[in-house]
Amino acid sequence: MRTALFPEGFVWGVSTSAFQIEGATDRDGRGPSIWDAFAGGAYGDPACDHYARHPEDVRLMQDLGIAAYRFSVSWPRVLPEGHGRVNGPGLDFYDRLVDELLEAGIAPYATLYHWDLPQALQDGGGWTSRDVPRHFADYARVVYDRIGDRVDTWFTFNEPWVAAFLGHGSGVHAPGLRSASDAFVSAHHMLLAHGLGLEALRAQGAARAGVVLNLSPVLTPAQLGDMSTGIPEEDAEAVARIDALHNRQFLEPLLRGRYPAELLPLIEKTAGLGHIRDGDLDVIGRPIDLLGVNYYTPIAVQAQPSAPADPAFPGSEGVLFCSVPTAVTAMGWPIMPSGLSLLLRRLSEEYPETELMITENGADFEDVVTGDGIHDVDRISFVEEHLRALRTSIDEGARVRGYLLWSLLDCVEWADGYRRKFGIVHVDFTTQRRLLKDSALWYRDVIMRNGLGAERPKRPTLETVAARSGVSRATVSRVVNGEARVSPDVRAAVLRAVQELGYVPNAAARSLVTRRTDSVALVLSVPRHGGEALTSAVVQYVTSVLEGAGKQITLMLADTAESHRRIIRHVEARQVDGVVLVPPDGPDTLTERLARTGVPVVLLGKPAIASLVPHVDVDNAGGAREATRHLLDRGRRRIGVICGPMDLVAVQDRLAGHLATLHEDGLRPVIALAGLDSGSGAAAARELLSGDQDLDAVFATSDELAIGALEAAREKGLRVPEDLAVVGFGDIHAASCTTPALTTVRVPAADQALALARLLLSRLDGRHTSSVVLPTRLVVRATT
Ligand code: FCB
Repeated sequence: MRTALFPEGFVWGVSTSAFQIEGATDRDGRGPSIWDAFAGGAYGDPACDHYARHPEDVRLMQDLGIAAYRFSVSWPRVLPEGHGRVNGPGLDFYDRLVDELLEAGIAPYATLYHWDLPQALQDGGGWTSRDVPRHFADYARVVYDRIGDRVDTWFTFNEPWVAAFLGHGSGVHAPGLRSASDAFVSAHHMLLAHGLGLEALRAQGAARAGVVLNLSPVLTPAQLGDMSTGIPEEDAEAVARIDALHNRQFLEPLLRGRYPAELLPLIEKTAGLGHIRDGDLDVIGRPIDLLGVNYYTPIAVQAQPSAPADPAFPGSEGVLFCSVPTAVTAMGWPIMPSGLSLLLRRLSEEYPETELMITENGADFEDVVTGDGIHDVDRISFVEEHLRALRTSIDEGARVRGYLLWSLLDCVEWADGYRRKFGIVHVDFTTQRRLLKDSALWYRDVIMRNGLGAERPKRPTLETVAARSGVSRATVSRVVNGEARVSPDVRAAVLRAVQELGYVPNAAARSLVTRRTDSVALVLSVPRHGGEALTSAVVQYVTSVLEGAGKQITLMLADTAESHRRIIRHVEARQVDGVVLVPPDGPDTLTERLARTGVPVVLLGKPAIASLVPHVDVDNAGGAREATRHLLDRGRRRIGVICGPMDLVAVQDRLAGHLATLHEDGLRPVIALAGLDSGSGAAAARELLSGDQDLDAVFATSDELAIGALEAAREKGLRVPEDLAVVGFGDIHAASCTTPALTTVRVPAADQALALARLLLSRLDGRHTSSVVLPTRLVVRATT
């Protein structure tokens, strides 16, 4: 690893928001917010009790060398009814906070709206009402009046997309509404509120003001694997539409004073255009000084005509949101630092005049509190990889002025309550004790160095535990694997070291920490004729490898729509940690529905619909090439192909390999279509042989079909191989028993099953995984 220093003056900081950390929801005259109502008292208070403990939190930041602290002001703390009466004690709190920050040498960055609308305003229609933007501007004025003399960086809004579309579209955030029309109207009113708020701040002399957006590159599954791949024509519209809804709906009005042209008809169809009044876009598009970028993960989509709209993306009919087969955070968000580079490159190209700041980036991982700290190596790696990506973007010319990590403290993660851990500082919510995680100490070093050192964070290993407990590695291994042959004293010493170091030994021990069930569902669809051998190999090998790794297997049959629903429910309820899926032949949505549960899934065979779920397949095209080349090498020039059902992906690939090889030699194909069994193979062969092509060879996409071809040749009195050479595919048992014995392409069934089991184990370990394609092998027998 190389060191990566950042430009001089680069700002290192952290971000938080009022509702997520303050608590004290009914103290000193604060009014209720929509999040209090939404949480129903289940979370939000005491949160991190920052309202009372801010001096300690500021000291922590000072110790870490934090240069800028982005916090949000709680609107209902300042204006309990949302407008009108100002609550002095509420403003006093921010006044004190700003003074403490300045004393500690930390620049205060204030966000005015981080989602906690006063409930009183919600009662009057909330963001669907055009009054709220006006009230927002007044609120901005009140806050600026009090702390504007000491706060030089202002953000009007945090992530209006989330507030509008998760709050009013999918309803998973406050105020919990599900109306596509309200979502679009709210989004516009938030943009308008930003514009009016900005005007108010500027009028009073704000030095630097901007807005924060959550931006994600929108990519196709293939692009996620290889960024240099272009967007396939059939997916281009889906990608553009989601990009317009998620990114451009905000970027374009804010930075160019217009809505994306392709979005307007969609807004009009859903919500009308009456809420977008003349002059609004001029207000919204006034120049900002700084665009805050929150980046966590990319979005992957592809076109799928039958897909219904996702309520968070009204108008997304026909778009399939795909899962991404990379390591994910505990939140299930795919980790993709290259997505940040892509995003910054795009912003720099499209809006070169805009200064940028990363206002949020960070990760939720399950932490283990040990006797000597919290060794959150995953969080460190996450931030480190994103900082490397950021550094590269700055080299390429991106005008990024700072990086604010999300978040300082473990806090309330909105609808997920307290279970998410984004902090670099751990908070014990029963005692409110703060504890620096390793990531905090590591970030302190980054700040001190103004960049990354050459060292990578190290995970505690078996050796570390052995050294700490003064025993051999073998002994440690015996203890963590629960073997009996260890004295109680040694066992206790090793377990203490394991605890203190936060060492996570293996799947079994990890399950103690993560409370995983350690069970895996093996989901089988009923195979079409010919697939049984593979299915039984899968059951046999997958079961034995996974059981050997300590997993329990649940077999589930996916043969009816009801069984699909049952399986999804089972997986959604987290009754399993992983799924091995032998998907149905042909197009089907079970795979994607399972993938969306966030539980690791692996597939047997390349799926009919391109998917990000990793699969194990054989090189069907390569096998067909080899078979065809073999016939050509033996001097055969007039080769017919018998093709099984064309809706099977394997058949399509085999045909493609055959055609490509013929093409190389300038030969034309002769194709007959067939079903699955030897009877239909014989019929197709008869058709081929009765034509005037005078064939000297037949390649069949399966052994069954080839066996049918042998039968047809016999009927016609053709000698095999003298008059007609025949090659099959699959190397089923019967292939070696025909007369003469069949030349065929061997498909490694057992290897596929083993690879499938291993792939799932890697995914369960959280490792990066990609699909596996196993080689086939030509088995030359007497028919050629
Ligand atoms: C962002 C929010 C922030 C926090 C992080 C994890 O969308 O702005 O409050 O919830 O996600």
